Order: sequence, then structure tokens, then C-alpha cells
Amino acid sequence: MDIKALVSRMTLEEKAGLCSGDDFWHTKAVERLGIPRTMVSDGPHGLRKQNESADHLGINDSIRAVCYPAASATAASFDPDMIREMGEALGDSCQHEQVSVLLGPAVNIKRSPLCGRNFEYFSEDPYLAGRMCTAMIQGVQSRNVGTSIKHFALNSQEHRRMSSSSDADERTIREIYFPAFEMAVKEAKPWTVMCSYNKINGVYASENPWLLTEVLRDEWGFDGYVMSDWGAVSDRAAGVAAGLDLEMPSSGGVNDRKIVEAVRAGRLDEKAVDLACERILNIVFRWIENAKPDTPWDMEAQHEQAAQIAADCMVLLKNGDSLLPLDKDDTVAFIGEFAEKPRFQGGGSSHIHCFRTTGAVEAAKAAGLKVVYAPGYSVAKDELTAERLAEAVAAAKAAKTAVVFAGLPDSYESEGYDRTHMRMPECQNRLIEAVAEANPNTVVVLHNGSPVEMPWIGRVKAVLEAYLGGQAVGEAAVRVLFGDVNPSGHLPETFPVKLEDNPSFLYYGGEGDRTEYREGVFVGYRYYDRKKMDVLFPFGHGLSYTSFAFSNLRTDADSIRDTDTLTVTATVTNTGKRAGKAVAQLYVGDTESTKLRPPRELKGFRKILLQPGESGEVSFTLDKRAFAYWNEEIHDWHVETGDFTIEIGDSSRNLPLCAAVRVESTKELPRHYTKDSIYLDVMADPKAKAVMQAFMEKTMEIFGHEEESEGTEAAREAITEDMTLAMMKYMPLRGILSFGGAESAAELEDLLQQLNSL
Ligand code: BGC
Repeated sequence: MDIKALVSRMTLEEKAGLCSGDDFWHTKAVERLGIPRTMVSDGPHGLRKQNESADHLGINDSIRAVCYPAASATAASFDPDMIREMGEALGDSCQHEQVSVLLGPAVNIKRSPLCGRNFEYFSEDPYLAGRMCTAMIQGVQSRNVGTSIKHFALNSQEHRRMSSSSDADERTIREIYFPAFEMAVKEAKPWTVMCSYNKINGVYASENPWLLTEVLRDEWGFDGYVMSDWGAVSDRAAGVAAGLDLEMPSSGGVNDRKIVEAVRAGRLDEKAVDLACERILNIVFRWIENAKPDTPWDMEAQHEQAAQIAADCMVLLKNGDSLLPLDKDDTVAFIGEFAEKPRFQGGGSSHIHCFRTTGAVEAAKAAGLKVVYAPGYSVAKDELTAERLAEAVAAAKAAKTAVVFAGLPDSYESEGYDRTHMRMPECQNRLIEAVAEANPNTVVVLHNGSPVEMPWIGRVKAVLEAYLGGQAVGEAAVRVLFGDVNPSGHLPETFPVKLEDNPSFLYYGGEGDRTEYREGVFVGYRYYDRKKMDVLFPFGHGLSYTSFAFSNLRTDADSIRDTDTLTVTATVTNTGKRAGKAVAQLYVGDTESTKLRPPRELKGFRKILLQPGESGEVSFTLDKRAFAYWNEEIHDWHVETGDFTIEIGDSSRNLPLCAAVRVESTKELPRHYTKDSIYLDVMADPKAKAVMQAFMEKTMEIFGHEEESEGTEAAREAITEDMTLAMMKYMPLRGILSFGGAESAAELEDLLQQLNSL
């Protein structure tokens, strides 16, 4: 198909029309030219295909489908291969339903526990979010169905999401908020990108040329089309010029006319409209040419797959006295409405109309387990009556073990608005406290998309974090609780003790329509670790029913240049009695830096299945990006020459292996030395240091002489060269003028010239 030729046959009105949706879910057809309509649908963790009366808030029905665990859960699996398979299944469903693009994954960073949409996002860590979304995109697109990675970019709050400006410095954007998008665009080539509602440093994402063209296309090589989030367009003509190809849904023709007017008035180059059409049509025809409507959609098989994935995402946060796994012969009380009707997905555009859901009570009964059920709190009324409490306590007392299913109700956490605190409903906390008092063997299973405070943590023996685990979460929970599956999830975010500990706490939500990301790169564990702060559960944490040991850390070099790669290998051994999956996590830290950097950052992870007693190797390849920070002067990644630590273990706070490696930078930063540059900075630059030698001697001589005239002999002896240097380090180069006069002035001029021409 010659797309350019096709576009050349379109009228300006037809082209402008193609740049917005036909309705809520379709691109436009141009029948006279054989251009078909194509359908897009939410997304991301299931198919939400709606019919004509669509409203995108999940109020209207969509077709029955399979709801997989949300990204908050799948990130905890630390298993990109598994998420790729989930993507393949989603791609099959889209082919079956003739949906050209699945609207997801959503990869915004979990900056604060308060973001209402955290359940749909992967992590506080950009590397983990990047690896997981890349795998998911590869999976879906392997079925010749497109994805729309969203919401590009810095859309980490729901509060004022359509008007707020996310204001962050360049380094923070590059190191924290871009990498997931960047990795996916480079490695998985999403067919489309969805721009976010918000502004970035004052400019709407939907009309931001730096974002949509310079970075996304020119730097990262994106070659699909950019669509707007639903209703994210303010100035349509500016959007076309900036690189926003498709406006969604439709503007009823208003914005199409604006495009035509802007072209006619010479305010918008028609070539920009042509380009947008070419990009849209490339994808439209890629889809049409690869459509396979006879693809089967086996929902039963997908339900079972969803159960397996959910089980592998669950994070065992605490397991006192190895209470879990439970014995299948024991009587167990399942308490809390979530045991019967779990919260397994979030509200808003990602809401799936499930063909089936299974709660834990039903799953346990189906498995023939001796489970009694007491509902405890009421989700709808947000209350715990005395009667229900008494019933729950009695059930807990009568059973060997009590399992309270708790978490956040829909009203607490949803697309469209933020949470105002990090607490669970009071009625649930009270229930947990009462059950724990009635039965020392109390377990809590949590359903939530983001961290919660756990005031009862010291009184319960075990906690299993299920996140929003999809429609089969009940089966998954039973398999993990009773040991059919050994838990292997790890936290993709830090659980702080309290909301106020979170680094964005002071600034989150901002003032009016401006939110400053003032904590900079210190998001999540990058902050908690730098502060050496106590947390409830650290990033990367997750227990197992077996135990693992890490040993034998090796690197293939002690020193590399930043253009080389480094291979790091370690051994993981299952030292317990059950088969289990370990998650080896590799963190890199710069031991000394002139930049403010986090002590460690995740740069690799591997999930590995090991039988009891078995050892396995994990190996990682690190390149420049593993050691680099974003340098705002050169607008590029840069490595500071020096030593780095490489730590390996199974949580950001359990890293038994550590090695050091030296990395030499091959890129010199531009030199702008002036008479006001201080000695410290000049001497830190090895080439400048060599040039400085003669000048230094002269300065030290003058400086030492001054000291001599004042001090006693004993004092003079005590002043070592190091001390003189230490005293001088903050002195500007012009300091020599104070001691050497005109002769030194000429010398200083000379020196600056030499330094700046290195
Ligand atoms: C959401 C998107 C979603 C779109 C279509 C928007 O409100 O932010 O994530 O894909 O609606 O439903």
C-alpha cells in the first residue's frame, strides 16, 4: 500500500477529518478511497470493547471479557516473560473482536501512594516499569494488534488531571518519568502512544513539540501515531504542528474545521496534516492487512492463565512463625466481604466486564477445604456492625487460623480522583484488630492498588499483598494460602510507614494548576534509602515458603570504559525445602559523585525457579545507562569517572552481595572555567589538574608564606600540604590576585586560556 500516494488523493477536509475519531472508539473511514474505520478499545489488562452507546467511564456495559491482574499486581511478578504471555492472550482477544489497538499499558510512575490510578501503573521505579511494559507490548503486538502506551507523560496524579501542569526539571524527567516510555518505544515499538491530559512545564502534552516530536520521534525513533487521551486536546492546530496525529474521541467536527482554517490561513503547514494522516494510515492498514477475525478466544483458558499470573504476583509481606502455608486439613475462617467478593480491578476506563469472577470462599469450597466464612465489614456501607463483628470473632475463635480479606474499596481508589490519605477503612482496621485478638494465627490478605498504612501489623502473623489481582484472584489466593503455589512476588514500590514519609508529600497535588515535582529524582526507595529511613516494607521485598542464598558475585572486569558493557554473574541457591522462584535484583550506586544521586538504583532483575537444594546462575549485562545520570548541560546521559557499587539480593534492603567496579568516562564535559571557578572543581578535572600544577605550586608558595609569617614553628609543621589544599579548595582562582598582584593577573589570564582550550 502506497500510503503517501493515498494521502495525496485526499482533500484537505478529508485529511483534517482523519485526524480525529469518528466516535468514541473508531478512526474515520474515507469510503471513496477505500480507507476503513478501525476500532480501538481499553485496556490495559483486559478488553473493554464497548458498543455504540459508549461513554468511557465504565458505566455503560462492554462485552464480556477476561480481567487479568492490573499493572500494580503484574509488576510485582518481576516476570516479564509471564507478562509477555498475558499480552499474547490479550492480543488474541483483540483479534477475535477486531480491535486494532488495545489502549495500554499505562506506565506512569507511582510517585505518591495517593494517585487514584496507581492500581493501573506498574511501579515507583522506571526500570521495572520499563521492563514490564516492554514485555506486555511485545506480547500484544506479536498478535499484530497495536498497543497505546500511556499516558505520555508525567501524569502521576488524577487531581486536576486535565488542567494541571507537572513541572519537573530535565534530569528528573529523563531519569524517572521517561525511561519506561523510552525503553518500550526503543525495544517494543508500540504502534501508538497516548499523550496525557496534563501540561508539562506549562505546555499541554497534546501540543508539546518537544515531547511528541523531538524526544519521542527524533530521539527515540517512534514511528507509529500519537493519539490524544480522551478529551485532552485544547488547541488542535497547535497539536498537529507538535506531532499529535489523532484526536480522540471526536470533537463533532469542530477541531477538524480548525485544522482546515489554520492551513488556509497559513498558520499550519499542510505537510504536517499529511504527515499525521500518513502515520495514522500506516497503522490502520497494518492492522487491516493482518486482521485475523477467526482467532479463537478461549475465555476458560484465559481465566486459568489469569489465576496463575495472579498467584505469581502475590507478595508475601510477612510470615511470622511460618504460619503460611496453611494445612489443608485445618479449619480456617475466611473473614471480610472481600473473601467472597474480592476487589480485583479498579474503577474507570480500565473496568472489565468479566465473564466470571471467583472469590476465595468459592475457590476454597471448590477445592474441598474446610473454610467457614463471616463477612465482617460491609463494603457498601463502610461499616462494621456489632453483630457482624461478634460473628467474625466467633468464627476466628473456632478456627485454627483466621484469614481477613481486606483492602481498599472502589470508592477509595479510582481513575478520576486521588486518595486523600493512605488509610484503609476504619471498619476494616477494627475487624483485623478484633480477629487478631481472638486468634493469634491471623493472616491478612490485601486487595489494593497502592500502599496502605497497617496500624495492626505487629498483631497479625502474616500478610499477603494481592494487589488488584484480576477476576481469578480468589483461586490464586487459595493456591498461595494453602501452598499449592509458593509466593514469589516482590514489591514494585515502597510501603512507607505513613503517608507523610513519602518524598512527594509536601508537593503532591500542587497549588492550583501547578504541581512541582520538587523531590526530583528522589522518588520511592531512591529517597527512603538516601534518608536511611525506616519503611513498613521496602521496594523489592517479598518472602517465600522456601529460603534463598546469594553467593559468588563476579564481574568480567574491575574497570570498564563507559562505551563497554560489564557482565555480572551471581549464584542463587534454594536453601529451603520447597521449590520456589527467587527474584535476584541488581542495584548500581555511584560511590562518589558531584551530582546528587540516589544510593542505589535498580538496573537488572531475574526471576529463577529453583528446586530444594538447587543452585542457579543469574547474569546481567550493564551498559552505560546503568551508571549514567542525565546531564542538563550537554542534554545527554553522562557517567562520572569513578567507582560504582554493584549490589545483588532480593530486596532493596537485603543485598548480601556487593562488588566495586570503576567506570571511565569517554565523554568530556565542556569546560567553562572563569576567574570565579574554585580550586576544588578545577582539580577534580584530571586534565585541568595537570595544567594547574605550576599555578598551584605558586599559590601554595604564597599561601604557605603568609602562614609562615604568622605561625610558630610548631604550627607551621602542623600545616601539611593536604591541609593547605583543604583550606584552599573553595577559593576562586582569582584568589591569587589578592596575594600576587599584577604578575599573577597575567598568569591567571594565561591559565584560563589553557584550561578552556583543553
Ligand atoms: C483514560 C485513558 C483511556 C481513555 C479511553 C481516558 O479517560 O485516561 O486511559 O484509555 O479514557 O477510555
